[in-house]
Amino acid sequence: MKILAIAQSKGGTGKTTIALNLLAASSEAGHRSVLVDADHHAAGSTVMVGFSPPERSLSAVLRHNVHPLEVAHLVPEFNCLVLPGSYALSDLPQDTPLNALSDCVHSIASEPLDISDQAFSPDLVIIDCPGGDVAMTRMALYAADCVAVPMNFSALDLTANETTINLIAAVRELRGGRPSLAGIIPNRIQRGDSVARDLAFLVASRIPLLPTIPESNLIRRTGSAVDIGRRVVVMSHPKSSAAQQFRQLFGVLNGDRPWSREDGLRNLAEQLRTTAEELLPESEEAERGMALQGTPA
Ligand SMILES: Nc1ncnc2c1ncn2[C@@H]1O[C@H](COP(=O)(O)OP(=O)(O)OP(=O)(O)O)[C@@H](O)[C@H]1O
Ligand SMILES: [Mg+2]
Repeated sequence: MKILAIAQSKGGTGKTTIALNLLAASSEAGHRSVLVDADHHAAGSTVMVGFSPPERSLSAVLRHNVHPLEVAHLVPEFNCLVLPGSYALSDLPQDTPLNALSDCVHSIASEPLDISDQAFSPDLVIIDCPGGDVAMTRMALYAADCVAVPMNFSALDLTANETTINLIAAVRELRGGRPSLAGIIPNRIQRGDSVARDLAFLVASRIPLLPTIPESNLIRRTGSAVDIGRRVVVMSHPKSSAAQQFRQLFGVLNGDRPWSREDGLRNLAEQLRTTAEELLPESEEAERGMALQGTPA
């Protein structure tokens, strides 16, 4: 079983959107999964199972040692068990142990679950981290084997991204190199996006890029369909390029598809209508880096 955190302390970068579409892609590929909604806004679990009060959410597991199965919902359309978030996650007691979320996730893995008279042993756990809540993100990183970081490509996002990368580095140091950093997911990238083209080299020279998710009205429109099986683009528009990119992202994160740094650059370059070489011009790197920091060129 793999535990994947989707983390980015900057809000609104696409964590929940990506988590839900990865769950759909996982289900399509025949896997069983768990969504741990670690966000006090609880957007992901609300899309999947509706509103959950604190006593029926992850908060009760972390505060009162309630067993995760007592608050979990099975969503057959996604072949997924959902541990819902709730607003009570925003003010957990200060002495909540750093490994509380890890214990919760592993208690799901260690027991063969019996849900509706069916054994349910998950292959994948996705933790949807909150924006702006460093303490909860740290707990998620303590639980995860692997972390992927959705990022929008603007100068402000680039600056904010450092907080998450530093947090991951700090946890990796304490945990002896875990979770592994799968890479940045360039999200909301538009065709020919010149801002993303200018910023790509600052990110890609340090951190691998995962498959790029395009800016897409199809993605933005989903979430509230009456039919739960149509609430994410992978299911509502399975042939769209956005759906294909989510499937590719799932394949890479699940280890089914080989993916190199060059693949990441090429994938972003395709969306930007340019070449991988253009995104990483070594000779200009230092000069452009300085310009972004406000140094006169
Ligand atoms: N690729 C995309 N194309 C178009 N819209 C997108 C895309 N990805 C995300 N969005 C939209 O951006 C907004 C933020 O996305 P989302 O809620 O997934 O981000 P988040 O990182 O989970 O936010 P938070 O930090 O608040 O949890 C939503 O309105 C979503 O529909
Ligand atoms: Mg979210």
